[in-house]
Amino acid sequence: MDRAQETKPGNAIRVVGRDSLGRHRMLSAGMEARQIEAVGSLVAGSLAEVHPDAAETAYAAVTAFYALYDERPVKDNKGGSGFNDSLWLFVTASVLRPEVIVESGVFKGHSTWLLRQACPGAEIHCFDPELGNLVYRDPEARYHAGDWNETAVAVSGRPALAFFDDHMDQGRRVLEARERGFRSLLFDDNFPADNLYATGHPPLPSLAMIFDESLPETAEISWVRNGKVYEATLDMTARKRVKPLIEIYSVLPDLAPLTRYSAGSGLTLVKLFD
Ligand SMILES: C[S@@+](CC[C@H](N)C(=O)[O-])C[C@H]1O[C@@H](n2cnc3c(N)ncnc32)[C@H](O)[C@@H]1O
Repeated sequence: MDRAQETKPGNAIRVVGRDSLGRHRMLSAGMEARQIEAVGSLVAGSLAEVHPDAAETAYAAVTAFYALYDERPVKDNKGGSGFNDSLWLFVTASVLRPEVIVESGVFKGHSTWLLRQACPGAEIHCFDPELGNLVYRDPEARYHAGDWNETAVAVSGRPALAFFDDHMDQGRRVLEARERGFRSLLFDDNFPADNLYATGHPPLPSLAMIFDESLPETAEISWVRNGKVYEATLDMTARKRVKPLIEIYSVLPDLAPLTRYSAGSGLTLVKLFD
């Protein structure tokens, strides 16, 4: 490499090598550790509110995640979870320690890989009508090409987690999960009504909309994304059945101010009453 060409005059910064991990990161001793400390405190504190004995496990899981993320088999996961959402998924699954996991919305398999790293012995069921995008296939997981309504998954009293990253009606997912015996749910893409443009095909309604009492039960809603105009009929008549099932509704904090990685879609943890 010609160092002279990669160094700006009057600037103390020198280009000294190349890296192929695909993640912007600090290399100097102690610098990444500082970030892990800050992220670990935020994550452990947030999860402890939901799961009282979570703090220690959460902190250790955050530390483990930083090294783990660099080993991910799906390096380009555009359209799926990035660093911050991946961290929440891995850490929350590590804390909850489910024996049965349903993942609805698999895409390339990155989130399946994270769930497997967090819960090596779990029975994992992966649902996606379009399994042709898989880059990572978990050798032990059971793959179902379709919606989870089409296949019964027996929870049988075991600790279970359902992760919904399928852009479907989140109120409906709560009702279905409760019916199937799930009590811990994680949702991606829980956008409020004022920024539906943040993702393609947003869940309608999202839980944020269901909890927003200022929204009417039914309405026409319209938005623009990537130059296309979308409209949909918002139907929240299930709100009255969904809200009473929810014991804890926790929108997990945005890690972007600490990591400066893309805010992503954010994850929301839901605990249902027994
Ligand atoms: C955003 S991607 C999932 C990303 C993935 N979880 C990750 O983090 O890398 C959404 C996926 O949901 C799938 N999907 C669409 N409808 C679905 C349904 N009814 N049930 C399950 N998955 C569905 C799509 O095919 C797509 O692969």
